[in-house]
Order: sequence, then structure tokens, then C-alpha cells
Amino acid sequence: MERMKRVFSGIQPSGLVHLGNYLGALRQWVLLQDQHECLYCIVDLHAITIPQKPKDLELQIRQTAALCLAIGINPERSILFVQSDVSEHGELAWILSCHAYMGELRRMTQFKDKSGSNQEESIGAGLFNYPVLMAADILLYNAQAVPVGEDQRQHLELSRDLSRRFNNLYGDVFYVPEPIIVKAGSRVMGLDDPLKKMSKSASSQYNYITLMDTPDQIRAKIKVAVTDSGREIRYDEGQKPAISNLLTIFSLVTNRQIAALERDYEGKGYGVFKKDLGEAVCEFVRPIQKEYAKRLDDPALDSILSQGASKASDLARRQIKIVKQALGLGFSPVH
Ligand code: TYM
Repeated sequence: MERMKRVFSGIQPSGLVHLGNYLGALRQWVLLQDQHECLYCIVDLHAITIPQKPKDLELQIRQTAALCLAIGINPERSILFVQSDVSEHGELAWILSCHAYMGELRRMTQFKDKSGSNQEESIGAGLFNYPVLMAADILLYNAQAVPVGEDQRQHLELSRDLSRRFNNLYGDVFYVPEPIIVKAGSRVMGLDDPLKKMSKSASSQYNYITLMDTPDQIRAKIKVAVTDSGREIRYDEGQKPAISNLLTIFSLVTNRQIAALERDYEGKGYGVFKKDLGEAVCEFVRPIQKEYAKRLDDPALDSILSQGASKASDLARRQIKIVKQALGLGFSPVH
């Protein structure tokens, strides 16, 4: 068995968790808790890098936590908590931002995508510093492994750079975290555009399937999903990006090999394939939705989150002390 590692990952409380989030990241969160010490965080401080309505945000934090439990995060094994409940995230983010370069932050593709080309004057500094807060999340717990989707690779690279830079200046304080990016599912593409990733900020809801979609919504979205020319069901990302994406989803929600699906649908055409895929996705989300409904209204959710915050705080407090000592901060003769 692989040595026990500390794992950290986070998800924004957008109130809308889609198949990309699940297949790229959350699925691994569940699997990793069997063998590792895991911390999973609802990153509400990241969410406020774009304007939020307080009441909505509050509800979305709860919904995201309930969903984490519904997919199988076990609070007896893993620490599930809300980022803003542990104030050291902000403290370490400030310290790390003093070691990050404007140039490297400006090069982050997610920042470039979100800020557009000519709008720097009115872009929030939080959006610019988003990846520094992300590095703080990870380094605050000295996590060794971070399961994320492909779109977070560059942010992880920055976390690694900041860790190394800090260690070079002040001694061995942080691990250099490794991303865990799975082969299949790390970049689920939009149903309406298989050349762009599935994204909650997409303008059309036909881009994504959420774990909370009704069977009718799921069937309708898959029915109108973009396909490729020809009619064979074949995995070929170059020639058939749309069908390859649908095959990946089909394979992961049913735990069947892509080759077996290709064989099953040989000569059958897109219509039959999409119909069956729609049913398979409905089947897949049904138990999650049932469990979610239970978890959302259960008062135990609050105690799970407060216990998670308390366990995370213990670890965070210890680590921030080490960081401050390394920097020559926080010396107080009265203590
Ligand atoms: P968020 O909430 O945007 O995404 C949560 C996870 O879902 C993955 N993901 C995808 N995977 C495959 N295909 C897609 N189309 C797709 N879209 C999203 C993301 O890669 C992510 O793993 N910045 C992080 C949250 C965060 C974090 C952290 C993660 C904050 N601090 C520290 C790890 C460690 C994010 O993008 O969340």
C-alpha cells in the first residue's frame, strides 16, 4: 500500500456542481480518503473574488457541503470544512503574496480569461491573487497531494514555485505539493462545445450537466449535445472530440471501459447512443440526489462543518506558527 499522504483540495460554493467537477476532482476526493489523510474545503473566500449575494452565498456553502457528503465524503475519515472558518488561510495568503511576483500572477490563464484584455483598472485584486490564496490553502496543511482537474494545473505549479521559493529563503518549511490529475475525466468538455471545458460560468445551461439536474433536463441536454461528423461511436479526440467526450462521461458514470462501449454501439448511430447515455447519467445522479436531500436538511451538517473547522484550525495554527517563526515574525516576550 502507498504511504499515507496528506491530501488537500477545494471547491467553490457556486451552488452548481457539474459532471466536470465530479469526474475531474470530487470522484478522486472520495477514493483518496480510503488511504490518506484528507482535508476538503469549501473555498468561500475564493468565491468572493467575484461579487456574491450574501444570502445566496450562505445557502450555496451549505449546499456544496451537503453535496460533498452525498457523493461519499466521510466526515469520520476526512476533514470537511469551510475556508473562512479558519482565519489562517488569509494570513498565510498575505505572507505568500509578499513572495509572489506580479508577472507570474499576470500569466495565469484563468486570470487572463476572467479579466479579459483591457480591463485591468476595474478587475478585483482578489481575482489577481486567487492563485496565491490557493497556494496558502495547500501549504497551510503541508499537503503533499492535491486532486484537481486539468484546469488547475497551472495554479498548482505556482503553489509549487511559492513553496520552493519560501524554503530557499527561510529553510525547509513546506512540502512541494504534487497535483493528482487523472487521465480520464480531468478535462470534461462542454456539451455545446467540445473544444472548451465544461464550465459553470458558461453562458448556456446546455454546456453542462449538474449533479442536481432532473432526469428531463439531463435527457434534453444530452439529446441536443453537439456531435461530430460521421455516425460511428469511436474514441478519437482529434477527429471526434464531441463523441470522445460523451464516451468518457459514459465510461466513468457506468464504470465500463470505453472499448466495450465502442463495441456495444458499433453500427448503432448517435441517437441510440445518446438515449442510453442520458439514462445512464440519470441512473448515476439518482442516489446522489436522494442522499443530498437528506443531508441538506439535517442539522448534523452544521456540527460536521464546525468539527471540521476545529480540526483544520488545530493544524493551521501549528503551521502558521512555524511559518512566522521562520520569517522572524510573531516574537512576543510576554508569551
Ligand atoms: P472549482 O470549484 O472551480 O472546481 C472544483 C474542481 O473541479 C475541477 N473542474 C473540472 N475537472 C474536469 N473537467 C472540467 N470541465 C472541470 N471544471 C472544473 C477543478 O479543476 C477543481 O479541481 N481553484 C479551485 C478551488 C481551490 C482549490 C484550492 C483546489 C481553491 N483552493 C486548493 C485545490 C487546492 C477551483 O477551481 O475550484
